[in-house]
Amino acid sequence: MSDGNIVHVVGTGTIGEPLIGLLCDAKEDLGIDEVTFYKHSPVLTDRPKVRGLVKRGANLAVREDKTSEFQELGMEPMYEAEEAIKRATVIIDCTPKGTGLMNKEKYYNKYKNKIKGFMAQGSEFGFGKMYAVGINDEAITPKDKFIHIVSCNTHNIAVLIKTLAIGEKNKNNLKEGRFLCIRRANDISQVKSYIPSPQVGSHKDQKMGTHHAVDVFHLYKTLGLDLNVFSSALKLNTQYMHCIWYDLKLDYKINIEEATRKFIDNPRVAVSYKKDANLIFSFGRDHGHYGRLLDQTVIVVPTIHVVNNNEVIGFCFTPQDGNSILSSVTMAERFIYPNDWEERIKCLWPLLSQEV
Ligand SMILES: NC(=O)c1ccc[n+]([C@@H]2O[C@H](COP(=O)([O-])OP(=O)(O)OC[C@H]3O[C@@H](n4cnc5c(N)ncnc54)[C@H](OP(=O)(O)O)[C@@H]3O)[C@@H](O)[C@H]2O)c1
Repeated sequence: MSDGNIVHVVGTGTIGEPLIGLLCDAKEDLGIDEVTFYKHSPVLTDRPKVRGLVKRGANLAVREDKTSEFQELGMEPMYEAEEAIKRATVIIDCTPKGTGLMNKEKYYNKYKNKIKGFMAQGSEFGFGKMYAVGINDEAITPKDKFIHIVSCNTHNIAVLIKTLAIGEKNKNNLKEGRFLCIRRANDISQVKSYIPSPQVGSHKDQKMGTHHAVDVFHLYKTLGLDLNVFSSALKLNTQYMHCIWYDLKLDYKINIEEATRKFIDNPRVAVSYKKDANLIFSFGRDHGHYGRLLDQTVIVVPTIHVVNNNEVIGFCFTPQDGNSILSSVTMAERFIYPNDWEERIKCLWPLLSQEV
């Protein structure tokens, strides 16, 4: 007898933890029968997190040789790691750079005929076709079993371009897009990699600068578009939010009111009149899903500026993991319910803030 639709999340870090929680909360509406998750390290300080996820309805999987360590710490695994993979309908890998690709080679390829689909997150370039909900939905075909959910800043840049520069039938109206990704040092859930002062990044890609423009270029390439984009990046000594400065040169005339209207009219975009990252972040804490804003960007309306009647410049904030989480859940639904996923994910729409 079938076990029903099982979504298995590998990793319980910054992105895995809230993703497991959201899947549990919306399980019924999404038509998911079971949520399972793999925890890598048996750590005492992670015990409340694991217990919290189990309490919300998810089932724990660990490696066989670590089972007794988890049990000694008071965490009761239900499945062995590979058994959980084998049982799954869909797998969402949320592990650090390189691990998703390693897991693909070691485990996922082995079960690719039985499992409906696999996803990995932002830093797993090469895992599969790139995807961001609302950006390149039509590029995903039933043949695409391995999907690379693009990073949070790629989602943000992609939705700026989509809103202002992509016309009907994916007409490319972008002459040139320049972006400065002003990144937070680390997430509030992390203690490692904080920095004492602003730290600038180098331009590793000769043509496009940092990987942010490279990723957005490849995301739009799945639609057959060739974007002229360039990005730079720096990190600030803050834990709050990523911020992006954008400059989009368009091949049509636009004014501030029209640009603002386009942002307001995009349901995946939140607008705000606030200019401080902490105020946006704290709105997410109070009104988001367990503190997460799931919109793809937060546009700061008072910074929208137009020069030469065709160049839109401004600032926005990146809801750092929320946008990737929403794309991950949407893609899971596409794998499980290829015919009515659009209807099913409507249960998530009330979680979009629209105004912050
Ligand atoms: N952080 C964000 O805001 C964000 C946003 C969008 C996309 N992403 C992307 O999401 C991915 C994960 O990032 P993250 O920030 O969530 O990382 P993270 O907080 O460091 O969490 C990584 C998780 O992977 C687990 N793990 C580590 N080594 C593993 C292994 N060998 N096998 C299986 N699991 C292992 C860890 O488990 P233990 O703790 O149990 O060891 C931990 O739960 C990256 O590709 C990142 O680019 C992150």
